[in-house]
Amino acid sequence: MREWLRYVFAGRPAWMNVLMVFSAYMAFVYLPWDIFIKPAAVDEEVWFGVRFHGGWAKFLALFHWYVYAAAAYGFRHMKTWMWPWAAVYVGQVAFSMLVWPMLYAGGFLGFLLGLFAFVPFAFAALVLWNAKDSFEEESAPLRERYGEWALVTGASSGIGAEFARALARNGVSVVLVARREERLRELATELESRHGVETKLVVADLASAPDVARVAAAVDGLDLAILVNNAGAGYSGSFAKQDGERLRNMVLLNCAAPVQLTSLLLPGMLARTARSAVVVTGSVSGRQALPLHAVYSATKAFDLLFGEALAVELCNQGVDVVVLEPGSTVTEFQEQAGEIAHTGQPADEVVATALDALGRQHSVVAGWWNWLRANLGARLLPRSTVAYLARDVMKAQTPPEMR
Ligand SMILES: NC(=O)c1ccc[n+]([C@@H]2O[C@H](COP(=O)([O-])OP(=O)(O)OC[C@H]3O[C@@H](n4cnc5c(N)ncnc54)[C@H](OP(=O)(O)O)[C@@H]3O)[C@@H](O)[C@H]2O)c1
Repeated sequence: MREWLRYVFAGRPAWMNVLMVFSAYMAFVYLPWDIFIKPAAVDEEVWFGVRFHGGWAKFLALFHWYVYAAAAYGFRHMKTWMWPWAAVYVGQVAFSMLVWPMLYAGGFLGFLLGLFAFVPFAFAALVLWNAKDSFEEESAPLRERYGEWALVTGASSGIGAEFARALARNGVSVVLVARREERLRELATELESRHGVETKLVVADLASAPDVARVAAAVDGLDLAILVNNAGAGYSGSFAKQDGERLRNMVLLNCAAPVQLTSLLLPGMLARTARSAVVVTGSVSGRQALPLHAVYSATKAFDLLFGEALAVELCNQGVDVVVLEPGSTVTEFQEQAGEIAHTGQPADEVVATALDALGRQHSVVAGWWNWLRANLGARLLPRSTVAYLARDVMKAQTPPEMR
């Protein structure tokens, strides 16, 4: 519990932690009560010093809800957009505090009361305005933070290839792992010529335990700082129509391979004096049961819980762990999984989200819409309801003969 509190409250000054807790209280306790339970007849909201009642108050409270939810999230993750918006919002509150008593109490007394309420909020706005640097704290480049070598599985396309590019941009040399050798060679040439880093290729089928062991052996002697367990595959369709051997291979690739590879490489990472990092590519599919992708979503739930548990086990041992949870992403995944093509996020954006969260969060969802789905839908609704809703979404992405 103490470690969890340290994890939540680390990285920002005490006064900002107070604002974060207050924002979370407003977002999760006060405003839901204010909006859904408090009778409209007695409801009141104040914006820019003007009082609103009844239906207007209920409507405007939605904006307050949005502001406090954003503030709680923004303080929690020290998002750069908090500057200047946090200061501007508190400035608006200070202005309201000054104007409100003047409008409704009037006279010199109103002015005095307003001034009295204005000062603390104006002070808070000023402090937030001056805190620009806290929200802009840029992480050091990955090579400085972790070290010289990374290993990326599934580097021959999609998210894995983008991980390799992002790491190379940070000056990190990369071991590229996948089955398609030609693709790996092309990427290696690109990384070496554009970023001047070293590369090493390991052609391996990660659904095979001896191949995974061979990958680990191939990096023996390298000072491996970052392990990206990204290779994975999907298989769209109803379980009854799916091929059992392909499903079994998917479980081996998505679940057994990251466990085996991490287990083989972690001792070397723990022995390093510098920090190390492990990334696991999960999926928002792992947040709920996903009919027509039943085994895939189960493998991604495995990845999420495996990575999140490792993150807590290793946080005080010099290893940062983050699970990346992408939603639909534009890669070869849909075609490979046999899905009907649909839109998605660019893979480089998804990778940037993961690397930004590394060392700050234990898991991260890519994209705000995916975040809402993963957190609101899956947390607020009964799991069976979410599974039925998910089936309807998956139906539209599954070829009729596989439904
Ligand atoms: N794209 C999405 O919408 C999406 C959404 C959520 C999560 N994800 C996850 O993101 C990760 C990367 O997928 P992606 O979207 O980038 O798909 P992708 O473009 O199909 O890439 C998959 C990568 O995994 C490698 N791979 C597949 N089977 C392998 C095997 N048996 N042994 C070794 N490597 C293997 C592939 O290389 P070879 O074929 O050359 O071996 C390829 O490099 C996966 O874990 C996936 O579950 C994707």
